[in-house]
Amino acid sequence: MKFVDTSYEPGKDDLKVVFRIEPGHGTIFKEAASKIAKESSVGTWTTTDTINERAEKIKARVYELNDPYAKIAYPKELFELNNIPQIMSSIAGNIFGMKSVKNLRLVDLGMPEKILKEYKGPRYGIEGVREMLEVESRPLMGTIVKPKLGLDQKEHAKVAEKSWIGGCDIVKDDENLTSQPFNKFEDRLTETLESRDRAEDETGEKKVYMCNVTAPFNEMMERAEEIKKQGGRYMMIDVVTVGFSALQEMRDEGPELVIHAHRAMHGAITRKKEHGITMQALGQLYRLIGVDQLHIGTGVGKMEGEKNDIKWIKENISKKEVTEYDTTMEDMKKRLKQNWHQIKPVFPVSSGGLHPGIIHEIMDFLGKDLIIQAGGGVHGHPDGSKAGAKAMRQAIDAKMNKENPWKYSEEKEELKKALELWGTKPN
Ligand code: 3PG
Ligand code: 3PG
Ligand code: MG
Repeated sequence: MKFVDTSYEPGKDDLKVVFRIEPGHGTIFKEAASKIAKESSVGTWTTTDTINERAEKIKARVYELNDPYAKIAYPKELFELNNIPQIMSSIAGNIFGMKSVKNLRLVDLGMPEKILKEYKGPRYGIEGVREMLEVESRPLMGTIVKPKLGLDQKEHAKVAEKSWIGGCDIVKDDENLTSQPFNKFEDRLTETLESRDRAEDETGEKKVYMCNVTAPFNEMMERAEEIKKQGGRYMMIDVVTVGFSALQEMRDEGPELVIHAHRAMHGAITRKKEHGITMQALGQLYRLIGVDQLHIGTGVGKMEGEKNDIKWIKENISKKEVTEYDTTMEDMKKRLKQNWHQIKPVFPVSSGGLHPGIIHEIMDFLGKDLIIQAGGGVHGHPDGSKAGAKAMRQAIDAKMNKENPWKYSEEKEELKKALELWGTKPN
């Protein structure tokens, strides 16, 4: 069987994948690409006499080679279309462990409409979330209660209330806060939603609590239902650790809540430039399943991530159509077109090491359709959480008014103190 065919024109129903390949010892690039197409579709290490016509017809084909990049087309018959675990067991399965590749990176996906039609995508997306929060055009602003673990439910709710009153739209649990003995899920939910109601009364603004439901599946579903019952509007899920299957079920069968996707553990998969899966490709899958908000990185905060990559992730999860001509970067040119058809855009979230002094820079390169979150950058303010939240809102207002943050802070004490403490340089 032949798996490399550069004269092959991918069909409109084919799933296209860009791989970056470093062949293993004794293997040349083209051979490695061929083995990837073979193992990820119908073949194995040797020829078997069980091969039939159907297998020949539905096999994957390497249709473009551009060392170290290869594009592979997968006919839709290889897949159970609405089963992401099955799709990933094919295109991101055994191939990552083959000896014939030293390093392998799944760079990008080009998903056909046939696959898109099988998924619900975000229930709310950017527009729905903006409508719910009644915030038309500025970035949404949120905080994560800190310390990430250690507060009981009453202390947690108190910090949340101060943050909302100071100006946060959103208060979010941290990724590892679920239901610990000192801070039980249900108690925290009740207390924090009461705080939310008081903050809404006091400020006249809409406020939301993103409560972390991450848990084994049945427990997670019960927690989400409890949020709905108690009048919450959001559930937060650690999407990488719960897995595609559980996430898909939460989206399809769970209560009508906005889904905030935290990506804790993605770095184990996405971080190495030469191996793993890009965050952009993972983001495409999370958009397909239907998260409403997804962490994409900051480019200026405490976590690793280059601005260009982050911008590309943002485009791919939030634009209706992404073309390979959006960028002039060499590496980016290898990427595939994606038309999202009926699937709504996901609200990108920048979080991790942010503070008021770097808001202007992050808005410069990511724009206004963004959720900006800060934990330390709010609760680490010299005058506490409420002042910290105020400083963050002031920094956003400064940028929305096209003013320099230092200049704007002359009359805004909270912002001034934040800038004096943290400056305006990236972390
Ligand atoms: C955090 O939990 O500190 C971060 O927000 C995680 O980083 P990320 O947003 O880049 O995933
Ligand atoms: C998150 O979960 O997004 C973070 O915990 C961000 O925290 P930080 O702003 O203190 O880095
Ligand atoms: Mg966190």
